[in-house]
Amino acid sequence: MKAIKITAPGGLDRLTVVDLDDPGEPGAGAIRVRLHASSLNFHDYLVVAGKSKVADGRIPMSDGAGVVEAVGADVVEFKPGDHVVSCFFPFWQDGPAPVDNFANTPGDGIDGYARDVVVCPAHWFTQAPKGYSHAEAATLTTAGLTAWRALVVEGGLKAGDTVLALGTGGVSIFALQIAKAMGATVIITSSSDEKLERARALGADHLINYKSEPDWGARVRDLTDGRGADHIVEVGGPGTLPQSIRAVSIGGRIALIGVLTGIGGEVPTALLMARQARLQGLIVGSRREQIDMIRAIEATNLHPIINRSLALGEIAEAFRHQESGRHFGKICLEF
Ligand SMILES: NC(=O)c1ccc[n+]([C@@H]2O[C@H](COP(=O)([O-])OP(=O)(O)OC[C@H]3O[C@@H](n4cnc5c(N)ncnc54)[C@H](OP(=O)(O)O)[C@@H]3O)[C@@H](O)[C@H]2O)c1
Repeated sequence: MKAIKITAPGGLDRLTVVDLDDPGEPGAGAIRVRLHASSLNFHDYLVVAGKSKVADGRIPMSDGAGVVEAVGADVVEFKPGDHVVSCFFPFWQDGPAPVDNFANTPGDGIDGYARDVVVCPAHWFTQAPKGYSHAEAATLTTAGLTAWRALVVEGGLKAGDTVLALGTGGVSIFALQIAKAMGATVIITSSSDEKLERARALGADHLINYKSEPDWGARVRDLTDGRGADHIVEVGGPGTLPQSIRAVSIGGRIALIGVLTGIGGEVPTALLMARQARLQGLIVGSRREQIDMIRAIEATNLHPIINRSLALGEIAEAFRHQESGRHFGKICLEF
């Protein structure tokens, strides 16, 4: 079978297509999945580009979707022919987060899904939403579940709330779609007026260009009659957090998700205290939360926005497209 491997220390020119032995038939409790798609996340980019430490020969990509080809003894949740999607934390099944690192995350601490076939424990996957393509399903493992957990699981999002999404990447467009599906008002920012118009077409209620309006936190307050946003999906990190704290409502929630602008910086602590806002770091979610999200996706007929889909062998080009920042929503690999 074909797979992609990263040659340490990483770098987009060091991604290699290799032939590996077929993994064979699944044992008890395991499934054999023929993979057909993956999707790119900023985290995968950091791994393949050598910006975070990676083992030599690691198979990249946290997201994987495909078809069950065979099931081992004792597997009752899946049968051959089922369409399935992988879990970001294969060992976090339910309950509060037991992990604070990527040691057991496919495509980082363990081999990921840039390969034709995988044999693994059945609980490393869930059923994919009915009617989804494999590429659509692959977008759920990381980006979809992160937005869902931020807004619904931790945020307790309800109709009438105001959600602020930063930028138009994978997580933020999912946040926009989930928030609209649940009856929220959405404010979204972008560096591009053209992307903002695309966000409007998806239902965004208010648009802010964060380049031409650097004090966008104040603009969010204006747009909400001084109230601020109830939920902020904070993908920027230190470069955007001070504005997010300006933008948040009293008692609102900021889900600290991303590191797009760096990994450390100053926080206006007095304003955060005055706002009495909750600032919560989070990484993706559990298998149980993924199952709940998929039920909601089927009920609301939500489909992810795929900006571009490339073949597995074009993985370096796919990451260069992500690096360019031209994308809106998700970039996928299909194989
Ligand atoms: N904690 C978690 O569980 C988790 C899960 C998934 C992702 N993340 C993190 O979340 C971040 C986004 O991930 P992603 O996969 O959605 O990335 P992505 O698809 O590559 O999104 C990148 C987009 O972010 C926007 N952006 C960049 N700098 C910005 C800034 N200063 N202010 C506002 N928007 C900015 C840009 O949107 P415009 O082009 O519209 O300006 C850019 O296109 C990354 O840091 C990633 O590591 C964390």
